[in-house]
Amino acid sequence: MTDSFVEKSTYTVKHPDLRSWVNEIVELCKPEAVRWCDGSKEEYDEMCQKLVQKGTFIPLKKRENSFACFSDPSDVARVEDRTYICSKRKEDAGPTNNWMDPREMKRTLRPLFAGCMQGRTLYVIPFSMGPVGSEIAQIGIELTDSEYVVVNMHIMTRVGVNVMHVLGETGEYVKCLHSVGAPVKPGQPDAKWPTNPTTKYIVHFPEERSIMSYGSGYGGNALLGKKCFALRIASVMGQEEGWLAEHMLIMGVQSPDGKKDYVAAAFPSACGKTNFAMLIPPAGMDGWRITTVGDDIAWIKPGKDGRLYAINPEAGYFGVAPGTNEKTNPNAMKSIEKNTIFTNVALTADGDVWWEGLTKEPPQDLIDWRGVKYDPASGKPAAHPNARFTAPAYQCPSIDEDWENPKGVPISALIFGGRRSTTIPLVYQSSNWAYGVYLAATMGSEMTAAAFGEIGKVRRDPFAMLPFCGYHMGDYFNHWLQFGRNIPAPPRTFGVNWFRKDANGKFIWPGFSDNMRVLKWIVLKIRGESNAVESPIGWMPTYEDIDWTGSDFTREQFESIMSIESEDWKNELLQHAELFERMYDKLPKEFIFMRELLLSGLWRSPKRWSLAPEREDEH
Ligand code: GTP
Ligand code: SPV
Ligand code: MN
Repeated sequence: MTDSFVEKSTYTVKHPDLRSWVNEIVELCKPEAVRWCDGSKEEYDEMCQKLVQKGTFIPLKKRENSFACFSDPSDVARVEDRTYICSKRKEDAGPTNNWMDPREMKRTLRPLFAGCMQGRTLYVIPFSMGPVGSEIAQIGIELTDSEYVVVNMHIMTRVGVNVMHVLGETGEYVKCLHSVGAPVKPGQPDAKWPTNPTTKYIVHFPEERSIMSYGSGYGGNALLGKKCFALRIASVMGQEEGWLAEHMLIMGVQSPDGKKDYVAAAFPSACGKTNFAMLIPPAGMDGWRITTVGDDIAWIKPGKDGRLYAINPEAGYFGVAPGTNEKTNPNAMKSIEKNTIFTNVALTADGDVWWEGLTKEPPQDLIDWRGVKYDPASGKPAAHPNARFTAPAYQCPSIDEDWENPKGVPISALIFGGRRSTTIPLVYQSSNWAYGVYLAATMGSEMTAAAFGEIGKVRRDPFAMLPFCGYHMGDYFNHWLQFGRNIPAPPRTFGVNWFRKDANGKFIWPGFSDNMRVLKWIVLKIRGESNAVESPIGWMPTYEDIDWTGSDFTREQFESIMSIESEDWKNELLQHAELFERMYDKLPKEFIFMRELLLSGLWRSPKRWSLAPEREDEH
């Protein structure tokens, strides 16, 4: 056959393995045309225009160079039940991942991919995760039949000819094959959001460093640099090579004296990473400043000086839209003023976007995310709860000056938090690295619309990595423990929970900018400048240890979200045991003893541990 790219590429491809892979996929998927992407602005604009012509993209009158689109209602989030880790051995995928023998999986996928790009163009996207040429960065090539994927990859990763230069003739890259799984038959019109309504597969072959994604055009299912590569495949690379690929934001915290610490924080999907990463301190906490390195993924490596250095492998934000507004996240609002793609938000009559929480009341005459006139009386939201914006990172006003530093930024603290309406206090510190790993490993969170599952139900989500760890979760825990043993002074570890609710189901903690109060305590704690008391689960601030300038949050309220209820915690520890049972073969032995120690600390009277025991006695 003819080399499909020779005449259609603006650059020469010198990599024989890449050429033969592309040819093999062209043979299999039978696209109408092949296009090698160069990452240019012209290419971006051309793709956007193509999407406008197809009716997929709706240009927004109110935002420069921005578009909205509605997905198919069957294609609105990641599909965890259709996500597979196809390692050669089942035990390498572990009990928390779906697994199938790689040969069997390929036998299943081949017929699906055969002819699947009929009537479409196959795009070859060379991209770098991390600054191009950085030692920590990695290269991927995504083959996709979706223009939506091309433009989103332009924003979320570094796409371009320079990636090809780094790749050279023999460079390593991750093979990322994606199809929406919706061939266009001759004479038939294309769908506005092509997808396969019945068959979806998000498949990873960790040993081969390859990914095959079929049937979905949405977010983490289709933008393969993100969850599939930068977390699932990269976590395997990290385990083999001695580094970490984590579902974490990275932020700089600067105190009024100019001192700056970087922290990384893991929260499950739609639990506040973007908000926290872009935080603006509340009025009164003058001189404190937050800078943003990343909002979703961190690659962390030990440096020669024994500290941990983190980079954000991404170049943009694929952030949750609902709840974002001038109060909750002004930096995000600025980041999405232009050059932004909105997916599954609602449209206003004057050519702008809207979502629940943007303003108190919905404007008149909205078009909802299904593309029809919105009926506020329906009781349904106008924007899908997992509606997202795709925006370039450099547009964020709080972007850190070192966000593209190829060396990364040094990490002083790690924070872990879930969405928990009970049980977990606002903030606490683990007494040492091993306890920190235990705390992160046993994290739980109430499910959100960002993934497939029963919304509101608590599930264990170790390190916020349950859907993203590309290997056995027990091996992952051991990798983390070992990691800390190999560095002289590992970062301090903290647990947080912004989501405790009162008897009426209302959040007690105001959250958002007020989270700065907690962060200040954390940062001063690692500098040895703030106080704490010992609790059954670690170190905690008292009311006096928190800066309340400009806040009317009361001591009683604070103590109510810092209490440790024995009954809740006994239940919590039962769930830890359940998690451990699932991975007993590889569970670090430390965890068994740490659980026992926790239990012995909680086994007490009164039934509740509180910062204010004398007032508790009056109950
Ligand atoms: P992914 O992109 O899915 O990985 O998630 P993320 O962790 O970046 O999520 P994001 O920051 O976009 O979280 C959005 C959700 O968290 C919205 O429902 C917000 O209202 C909520 N949220 C964020 N911060 C806070 C907070 O401090 N308090 C409360 N109550 N809700 C918060
Ligand atoms: C998440 O679900 O954690 C996300 C969004 O960051 S997606 O890229 O769709 O996975
Ligand atoms: Mn995420």
